[in-house]
Amino acid sequence: SWRMDSFVENTIKEIREKVGDGKVLLALSGGVDSSVLAALLARAIGKQLTCVFVDHGLLRKNEGDEVESVFGPNGNFDINFIRVNAAQRYYDKLKGVEEPERKRKIIGEEFIRVFEEEAKKIGTVDFLAQGTIYPDVVESGLGGESVVIKSHHNVGGLPDYVDFKEIIEPLRSLFKDEVRKAGLELGLPEYLVFRQPFPGPGLGIRIIGEVTAEKVRIVQDADFIYREELANAGLEKLPDQYFAALSNMRSVGVMGDERTYDYAVVLRAVETVDFMTAEASEIPFAVLQKVMSRIINEVKGVNRVMYDLTSKPPGTVELE
Ligand code: XMP
Repeated sequence: SWRMDSFVENTIKEIREKVGDGKVLLALSGGVDSSVLAALLARAIGKQLTCVFVDHGLLRKNEGDEVESVFGPNGNFDINFIRVNAAQRYYDKLKGVEEPERKRKIIGEEFIRVFEEEAKKIGTVDFLAQGTIYPDVVESGLGGESVVIKSHHNVGGLPDYVDFKEIIEPLRSLFKDEVRKAGLELGLPEYLVFRQPFPGPGLGIRIIGEVTAEKVRIVQDADFIYREELANAGLEKLPDQYFAALSNMRSVGVMGDERTYDYAVVLRAVETVDFMTAEASEIPFAVLQKVMSRIINEVKGVNRVMYDLTSKPPGTVELE
């Protein structure tokens, strides 16, 4: 649209004027906002931009590689891209931790540690870029990609763990649908631009109880099958958010002649406007059955699949 053309064009100009020959640092999560911001900055200032992408090992299946394929050295942009594979660090920190809010806190703090280490290696930068969008400005929103920096920023003034002079937030006048339009305008792939919301703590809060590499593998594979089957189901509209989660429940089953004692996967899908209230989506039973049968057959360690019917309230969208 002409409005997005001019937003992209004008904002690129503004960024160039403001940044001059300065260096900009961005924590790239791979979510919509930070990805669109990375693309915009890339077009405006190229190699003056460094993106740090922390792969915490709690992303959805293949997601880390997808982010790298777009923003990495063989990707669409000429920027400095640093991927930190921090999965093991996170799993070590999360070992034995069961309480949801403690898990959130550990994941958030570890992000700061990792990001800080990378920022130190880079040295002083002139600007720290943040993917704040208009709804984040109005109320501290639902928890977008840069939530860790944002909350830190909001409570304590400017983040003190990165050496920079100023924050830039080029998306702060845009609504989510405008961010997506700008993303398409900037040539980002549709799967990235139309990604469903994904919480900062990632699969860490979709695995009830202790997080282990094994449980991450199970939930990634189950979720991948669920998304694939919904994409192929020919639904009129996809649910507003849908994912597989891993209950901490194991139960008895049979597989061939063998008795099994394995995990139960929970399928969640919701219809919502603002994520403050939500209803479970009416997914055709045949689709759910196909997902169930594929998960049981293809994902080792699972012998039961359940569909979550709970509205919000009293439930939440996530299970933790
Ligand atoms: P709930 O579970 O609170 O989810 O009903 C509402 C929306 O917020 C997302 N969500 C989070 N996002 N950090 C985030 O960045 C979090 O800790 C978090 N918890 C929930 C959730 O995915 C849904 O879109």
